[in-house]
Amino acid sequence: MIEPHGGKLIDRCLPKTKAESLKKSDLPRLVCNVDTVLDIEKIAIGAYSPLKGFMGKDDLSSVVTKMRLTDGTPWTIPIFLPINEKEAKKYSKGDEIIIQDETGDDIALMKISEIYSFHRKKWAKNVYGTDSTRHPGVKRLFDMHGKLLAGEVWMIDNPALAFEKFNLFPEETRKIIKERGWKTVSGFQTRNAPHRAHEYLQKLALSLTDGVLIHPIIGWKKDGDFRPEIVIKSYQTLIDKYYPKNSTIFAGLATAMRYAGPREAVFHAIIRKNYGCTHFIVGRDHAGVGDFYDKYDAHRIFDKLPDIGVIPLLMRGPYFCRKCNEIVSDKICPHPEKWHKHISGTMVRESLAKNKPLPEYVMRKEVFTALKRAGKNGFI
Ligand code: ADX
Repeated sequence: MIEPHGGKLIDRCLPKTKAESLKKSDLPRLVCNVDTVLDIEKIAIGAYSPLKGFMGKDDLSSVVTKMRLTDGTPWTIPIFLPINEKEAKKYSKGDEIIIQDETGDDIALMKISEIYSFHRKKWAKNVYGTDSTRHPGVKRLFDMHGKLLAGEVWMIDNPALAFEKFNLFPEETRKIIKERGWKTVSGFQTRNAPHRAHEYLQKLALSLTDGVLIHPIIGWKKDGDFRPEIVIKSYQTLIDKYYPKNSTIFAGLATAMRYAGPREAVFHAIIRKNYGCTHFIVGRDHAGVGDFYDKYDAHRIFDKLPDIGVIPLLMRGPYFCRKCNEIVSDKICPHPEKWHKHISGTMVRESLAKNKPLPEYVMRKEVFTALKRAGKNGFI
C-alpha cells in the first residue's frame, strides 16, 4: 500500500467523549462557510495529509512561491481560513475556538497559532498564473476576507454532507484497495459528466493498473458546470453498464474546485495518493477554465516535483479517428487532422442547449439520456 503524503495518514477526529464535552464548552464560536468546513473535514480525515490545520504565513508563502511546505514536502494549493478584520481583532495567538458550520453545528476545535495578512496579487499570479478576476478562482480569492487564521484543528463532528454515502474516507478507500489485493490504483479527478474521452483515459489507466478510483468533486464549482447529482447519476449509469465492478471504486470528493490548472493537478494527485492511489490521471487542460492554461501545462508541472510520490499518468487528448475507426490519441494515430472528430464537454453542452443528437463517440447514449432528462437542472 502506498504511503500517505508525508508518510502518515493524519487523523484529527476527536473521540466522542471529548467531542461531547467541547460541544458543552463556552469557548468562542466562529461560523465558517462550507468551503472551510469541507477543508476541515479533509484535514481531519487525512485527505490533506500531512496538513494538521490551516497554514501559517511561512507555509503559505512557501507554497505560493516554491510549491512546497516549509519542510520541503511538495504542496501547491494554499489551505487557509479567511476572516474579516473585525472578527480577527477578537482573537490572539494561543486562543482555542470552536468552528461552527452555517447551520450552527460545532465542527472543530482550533488552536490559533497566527493571525496574518497576505499579498493577494502575488498569490493569484503564482497559484492561478493570472491576477485577472475573469478567472473564477482568482475572483473568489479577491472577494474573500482580508485576514487569515492559522492553526491546528480537531474535528468534533463530521459535517452534514450532501451525498454522504459517496464520501468515503481515505481509510475506507485504502481498506477496499487492500481487501481487493490491488498493488496499483489510478486516481481520476473530475467535475463533469463522463464523455468518451474521460472513459478512454480511465480505461487506458485501468489496463495499466489493478484498479481505478473515479473521484468526482462534490463541492463548490462555477456557474455553468454540472451539478454533482447529475455527475453522480451519469457515472452510476456508465459504470453499471460498461465498467468491471471488481476493479472500479466510485466515490465523491467533497471539496471546492479551485480551477488552478497545473497547480491543482498536483494538489489533486496528492489528495488521491492519500486515498491510496499509486497513479494519477492527468489529461488535457486538467482543472482548467477558459483559456487560462495551455492544454498540457498540467503535464509539465510534474517535472518540477519529481518527489511527489505518486506517478502521474500524463495522457494526451483522445479523439475519434475516422480512419482508425476508434477513439485514439495523437500518440497512436498516424492520420492527419482531417480524419479526426474531437470530443469535449463543450460539444455535450451545445448539444443539450440546442436539443441536438450527440454521436456515440462523444458520449454514451445512456449518459446523454440522463443529462437530457435533467435538462437545466443538470447545471449550476
Ligand atoms: S477537471 O476540471 O476535473 O479536470 P474534467 O472533469 O473535464 O475537468 O476532466 C477530468 C480529467 O479528464 C482531467 O484529467 C482532464 O485533463 C481530463 N480530460 C477531460 N476532457 C478531456 C479531453 N477531451 N481530452 C483529454 N483529457 C481530458
